[in-house]
Formats: sequence, structure tokens, C-alpha cells
Amino acid sequence: MKVYTTKEEISKRIKALKTQNKSIGFVATMGALHQGHLALVKRSLVDNEVVAVSIFVNPTQFNNQKDLVKYPRTLERDVSLLKSVSENKIFVFAPTVETIYNGNTTSECFDYDGLEYEMEGKFRQGHFDGVGTIVKRLLEIIQPDKAYFGEKDFQQLQIIKKLAEKHHLSSEIIGCKIHREKSGLAMSSRNERLKENYKDEAPFIYKTLKAAKDKFGTKSANKVIEWVIKQFAKNELLELEYFIIADEQTLKPVQRKSNKKTYRAFIAVYADDIRLIDNIALN
Ligand code: PAJ
Repeated sequence: MKVYTTKEEISKRIKALKTQNKSIGFVATMGALHQGHLALVKRSLVDNEVVAVSIFVNPTQFNNQKDLVKYPRTLERDVSLLKSVSENKIFVFAPTVETIYNGNTTSECFDYDGLEYEMEGKFRQGHFDGVGTIVKRLLEIIQPDKAYFGEKDFQQLQIIKKLAEKHHLSSEIIGCKIHREKSGLAMSSRNERLKENYKDEAPFIYKTLKAAKDKFGTKSANKVIEWVIKQFAKNELLELEYFIIADEQTLKPVQRKSNKKTYRAFIAVYADDIRLIDNIALN
């Protein structure tokens, strides 16, 4: 499996593929791959002749430097996992920070029509400027026909759709369902860092989301929110950062339920010093 590290090398490969009219799928990752990432890669392989996977821990999207330093970097293992999916249809782009940022490791500023001010945007200052900067650069280098992003980071997915629309990027942005452990815990590279007792308790997050979904059928959003806050107040290990019920399109908190809109519940929780996010469709 070819692992490209420079823009020049990968651009040459992309040019050759375009000349041959091959359809290119793309999955952007920060590595430490798990089955959730591989589900995106597998989906991309169904739709496209070749798939590019980027592995790059993007410094500008980390608002917490400790989190950036601790982020797992497991390139060799990631490449062998990808090989187990397909030896010859996948290639990897694993650039250095220098290659992407050229000595200026800062974000560009983006306007996502307000999507950036909700939820993660409130708790992670500058995060979506960092995400926009790297995703735009990667889409411009790889020029995929289709790019795949997980609903695990639903706000990120909506923001990337907006980015592609506003900047007239030619790639189609496709959302993929959340891949979960048997316990219901949404797969995440951060799960690896959970201590045993926190790992045992973490499925409580999805259990609570499912119960909230049931309640939302008959109760108001405020009542459901109150109930969720109470459940976490009783939990000694998990600390709730936010629980929000929002319109899927605008990501604005629901005021009054409407049959014409689709809603989703979003949650962020601290398990010790590890921040976990999850969400569930409510319609
Ligand atoms: P990362 O957290 O590595 O995730 C890469 C992609 O995998 C994202 O689209 C994410 O939503 C998806 N993903 C992660 N866990 C998933 C799960 N359990 N089920 C389904 N999809 C899942 O998200 C990022 O990296 C970065 O912000 C990135 C887009 C690469 C920009 O740096």
C-alpha cells in the first residue's frame, strides 16, 4: 500500500487517476483507526474505484494542547488495518505538519452561516476554523468525487457540507452512520484512553440518548433535557458538559416541535479527563 507524505507525490498520483477517469473516494482521519473509520473506508470502496485515506493529526483544530500531545499516533498499525480492508484500492496520504502548513500553523477563518456557534463551537474555541482549514486543503489536494464523513461528528459533517457549498468544492460530501461498540458506546480513538471503570460506565451515554429519544415522542424538549441532566447528576463517573436537542439542519436548539423539521439530540460528556461526544436522530 502506497503511503504518500508530500503534496507533489500524491498530486502526481491523483493526476494519473484523473487521466484514467477513475472515481476517487476520500476518507479524512486523524489516525488511530478503528472500525468506525474502516466503515467509512468500506462504504467509500463500494462507491469508488480507488480510495484515498488521509492520516493527519491536525494541530489547528485542538483547542486543548494536552489533548493534541496525547492524541495517539499509530501510523504503522493504521496502514496494516487499511491493508486488511483492501491491499490495492486504497492509498494513504500522511503528510507532515510542515507539508500542510508551510511554517504557518494557523487556521483560516470560515463563515458557516452560524453552524459554528452551536455546541462544539461554544466549548471548543476555534475548533471548526481548524477543521475547515485542513478539510479544504485536503479536498483541494485529493480532488475526490466523493468524500465520506461520520455522523459521529454530526456538527462537523454539516459544517463540511456548508464549506463545500460555499467554496464551490467539486466533491460530494456524504454522511455515514455512527459505528458503535456492542455496548452501544460510539467508537472513538479516545475510547482507548479510558480507564477500565470509565470504559464500563461509558455505554450509559448511548443508553441515556436512546431513553431521551423515547421520551421526546411524548414530552417537550425542556422536559427531556431536565431528565437527562438528572440522570447524569446521579452518575458518579460521568460529567455532563451539554445535552441539546437541535434542528438537524440549523443545529439551533429546538423551541417548539414542528412536524416539518428533523431533530437530533447531542451530548458531550467527560469521563475522567476524556471528552466523549455522541448524538442520536430523534425522528
Ligand atoms: P477523526 O476523529 O479521526 O474521524 C475521522 C472520520 O471518522 C470523521 O468523519 C468521523 O466522523 C468518522 N468517525 C469517527 N468515529 C466514528 C464512528 N464511531 N462512526 C462513524 N464515523 C466515525 O474527524 C476527524 O478525525 C477530523 O476532524 C478530520 C475530519 C479528519 C479533520 O482533521
